Amino acid sequence: MKLLIIGSGGREHAIAKKLLASTKVRAVFCAKGNVGMKKDGIQLVDISEEDHGALISFAQQNKIDWTFVGPEIPLLNGIVDDFQAAGLKIFGPNKAAACIEGSKEFAKKLMEDNDIPTADYEVFTDYQAACAYVKEKGAPIVIKADGLAAGKGVTVALTLAEALQALTEMMANHRFGKSGDKVVVEEFLSGEEFSLLAFVNREKVYPMVVAQDHKRAYDEDLGPNTGGMGAYSPVPQISTEMVESAVEKILKPAAAGMVKNQTPFTGILYAGLIATANGPKVIEFNARFGDPETQVVLPRLTSDLAQIIADLLNDQDPELIWSDQAAVGVVLAAEGYPGDYQKGLAVPKFGDQATILYAGVVDDDQGVMRSSGGRVLLAAAEAATIAEAQKQVYQALTQADTTGYFYRKDIGAKAQK
Ligand code: AMP
Ligand code: GLY
Repeated sequence: MKLLIIGSGGREHAIAKKLLASTKVRAVFCAKGNVGMKKDGIQLVDISEEDHGALISFAQQNKIDWTFVGPEIPLLNGIVDDFQAAGLKIFGPNKAAACIEGSKEFAKKLMEDNDIPTADYEVFTDYQAACAYVKEKGAPIVIKADGLAAGKGVTVALTLAEALQALTEMMANHRFGKSGDKVVVEEFLSGEEFSLLAFVNREKVYPMVVAQDHKRAYDEDLGPNTGGMGAYSPVPQISTEMVESAVEKILKPAAAGMVKNQTPFTGILYAGLIATANGPKVIEFNARFGDPETQVVLPRLTSDLAQIIADLLNDQDPELIWSDQAAVGVVLAAEGYPGDYQKGLAVPKFGDQATILYAGVVDDDQGVMRSSGGRVLLAAAEAATIAEAQKQVYQALTQADTTGYFYRKDIGAKAQK
């Protein structure tokens, strides 16, 4: 098989690498990918993920068997619809189904209609009405911009003042542009977070092993929200019953609800969950693999990812086998991220204790790899236990020259408590 991956981050590096490990796969192209992927034999294609026409031509000219979409933006732009209209195979939800991620209001309605446990909420387009509601409910309370805001459109307000300020920024000052014209105000859920992803083909759901992301920039979950600073899998403090309940009460009804809605979902469904005292509740759905969860979930997949996706595209049941190994991944970010940060930093070299999955990197004029984004790479290790995997990954990071960068020192710490 010859495959095309859309996207350019650490998640796509992990997906492409896993696909290339299949004996059935001859070549994996990534558009645009990043230069760090080349060491693993992934071929870069210099076409923007927004240029569906050029991507379709590339897939046709290169006889690509099927395409896999990493990020949400092309999904929401209808890349799946466009490839299918051109008679090409592509794995991911179409534009209508991707709304499960693209519109919080759509997701909330799906949950309401299908009795899927989530936080109570109200949707507002009127600033004054939103303020009045927040004053009535009090803090802690959660304020979310309805559209996509690159993970930064959520404020978990511990005080009423913070909540009102968030509404002012989103609705009056338009900090997130149009995404903030409609705001969801949500009940605060208390409990540990975990991510449960599944391969979905219409009403059929094939769950993956769970992972835990670390969204805040600094140790002990302090500092601003980021795109994710590290992840690990398994998550031993989340019970098997909690996970089973999430599959039965959340993933399966969500997939069935999408079919009933006439927006059937085929692709990767990601549930961001909180393990509350009353069972799992949904914080958000995503229509794609999570970043950085993918970088620790896929290494634990022992069956063939290319075969799984080929099976799903052919309406067959795939075989999913998972290893008992633990995986821990730590993101190396430029100092200052998620605020202002420097680009063009030298990219550290690593020994072989850790697997390196690259994200924000480019080659300079001399062909030397330099940072080009906030999250530059993720170092991952696999071992028999989380503690052992942590030890390996932190050893690799300590031994590298990480001047100009920072990383969290506590990835996986909650599993040890
Ligand atoms: P989201 O972008 O929806 O994933 O939200 C970002 C982060 O805000 C989540 O990872 C949670 O830590 C937190 N969060 C979102 N919704 C809630 C909620 N209803 N209760 C408590 N925390 C929340
Ligand atoms: N790790 C969170 C996300 O991918 O949305």
